[in-house]
This record gives sequence, C-alpha cells and structure tokens, in this order.
Amino acid sequence: MVSCEPMTTTLTFRRPDDWHLHLRDGAMLAGVIAHSARQFARAIAMPNLDPPIVTAAQALAYRERILAARPAGSDFAPLMTAYLTDGTDPADLAAGFERGVFAAAKLYPAHATTNSAHGVTEVGAIYPVLERMERIGMPLLVHGEVTDPAVDVFDREAVFLERVLARVIGDFPALKVVSEHITTEEAVRFIEEGPATVAATVTPHHLQFNRTAMFQGGLRPHLYCLPVLKRERHRLALRRAATSGNPKFFLGTDSAPHPAAAKEAACGCAGVFNAPVALESYLTVFDEEDALDRFEAFASEHGARFYGLPLNTGTVTMRREPTEVPARIQTPAAEVVPYQADATLGWRLVAG
Ligand code: DOR
Ligand code: ZN
Repeated sequence: MVSCEPMTTTLTFRRPDDWHLHLRDGAMLAGVIAHSARQFARAIAMPNLDPPIVTAAQALAYRERILAARPAGSDFAPLMTAYLTDGTDPADLAAGFERGVFAAAKLYPAHATTNSAHGVTEVGAIYPVLERMERIGMPLLVHGEVTDPAVDVFDREAVFLERVLARVIGDFPALKVVSEHITTEEAVRFIEEGPATVAATVTPHHLQFNRTAMFQGGLRPHLYCLPVLKRERHRLALRRAATSGNPKFFLGTDSAPHPAAAKEAACGCAGVFNAPVALESYLTVFDEEDALDRFEAFASEHGARFYGLPLNTGTVTMRREPTEVPARIQTPAAEVVPYQADATLGWRLVAG
C-alpha cells in the first residue's frame, strides 16, 4: 500500500508498530507515551521496571496504567512482556500467554543492562520455561549480551550469539526468538543464516551512528545505550539488513528515556530516547539507502507477521520537510533529552 508521488515528497503507508519499547511507569510514562502513540499502533512494552513485570497480574496492572496514560482518543495498544528470572514458573507463564496477557517473554542476562539485576544467571536455569514456550508458540525476546566481565563490552553481543543463542536455537528448534536491538555484522549474519524462527529488531540509533560518534568533540552521553554503538562496518551491515526487504529484520526503537541528569552524570545511564523522532529517523535511513519502497514492510509488516498478529489497517503519512528536534523535552518526571536533539531532520510525520 505504499503510495509515492513522482518525486517522493509524501509517503503514505500502513500504520507501523514498535516491536521494542521502554514506556517506563508513573510520571515518566505520562510524559513519554504520547510520542509513541502518535506514530505506532502497537508496541511491545518492555518489562524492566523496578520491580520487574514478572507475573500476569503485574502485566495486567501495568497495561492498565499504560492505557490510562494515553492521550485522549488514542487507540495505541501495548503488547505486554514477561521478565524472565531463574524462578519463572513455566505453567504461570504459559497461562499468561494463553490468556492473551503476555505477547512474549524477555530474557535479560542478569546485570546486562538497566534493571536487569533479577534477570537470568545462566540460560540452563530457564530450560523448562523455554521448552514450554516452544511448545505453545510464545516468542522469546533476547537482550543478547554476555555479562562476563572478562569479555570486552564491544564484543559482548558477538560472544552471546556464539555461546548462548546458538545453543538455545539448537536445543529448541521451533522456539520463536527475536534478538533485540542487534548491533553487529556478526548478528546480521547469524540472523540471515539462522532458521526462519529467528528474527531481529534494529534501532534508529544503531543505523545512524557508530561508536566514534559517541566521542565526537567530547563524551556524548545521549548516544550511550546497551548494546553500545559499534564500529562503522557494523553500522553499514545493519543498514544493509534493515533495508534489504528480508522479513527477519523489523522495527524496534529501544526508545529508553532517562532523566537528563541521570545521563549527564559521572556514571550515566544507558538508553536513547528516540520515540519523538523514530519514524523520521528510520525513514531518513531508508531514503539515504534508496529503499523507500521497502520501508513499509520493515516498519509495518515483518514484525506483525513474525508474531503472528494481524497487520494494522490505518495509514500514516510522512512528508519530506524540515523538522526541528527540541533540545530537551519536559516530562512530569524530569527533563529528557531526545535523540537528535537540536538537529533538523528531513522528514515529518504529518498524519496518523
Ligand atoms: O540502552 C539501553 N537502555 N539498553 C537496554 O537494554 C535497556 C534500556 C533501558 O531500559 O534504559
Ligand atoms: Zn530495550
């Protein structure tokens, strides 16, 4: 349903979804949700709250808080995820999926990232859970980084694929797995060469910046996220994958707001708040790669098909016109610095 005017100044396409989003809770949720609701019909809501979303009852209550925080008239729909721990009960998790509370479950290796202290210490600990998920068709979403302090932070994704994910896929051949926010050439190859049960999300920031940008003229804490940005060759591999038309790659922003003060600090938090400009940023990449005709599939079709969910019916329209990004965004919780702060982007979302 992509319709392009001759010079492609306007692009209308099926309403997209965000397959990886941190909406937070309370005052931060209230301050950030409108940015996602403006662009996306649905979003996979990450469960790494403090305390994490472990049970179906917690997920239902969190879902209600998200729905209540939406702007008036919004039909934005959160898809809830369970945070896996060493103690996750397979029967409880399966019941939550079968009742339609959970869309998926998230594997955070313990201490890999923000609020992952309750995560899984060793993947063998959740084998009974994975066996059950495989049987009922419940997708496993993976933060793919090892936490071994001996492994260099820039290598943690590649080592995870080799040491952990290859084993999980081999042991559970029918398990649906999404490797979230992939950052490396090795991950692209792993997904491309893997079975059809394995897919990946790609963020705007990993498509647009490499690790050198994090140090451009000084330390840039607002580009710091996990997995951390990588070398240029990895960024180029991600751009090739995302714009290739391969259905294993789809949109997942990993938008992760933190108070500005928590990032501009001696020990800054990981996370890029890209929700205000997500579609504009992705579309810029597809435009630069001369792949506008493949944008709709990446943004609005591949993810839903992988999850086995219906495609959205409405449309959104983007126009090629300058869009200024504010330096800071005030939320009831704190000031937050958006991705691309102070930049002028080349596309604008004009109608949802
Ligand atoms: O940069 C990140 N921020 N990576 C994650 O995995 C978590 C996220 C967050 O929740 O802040
Ligand atoms: Zn994330």
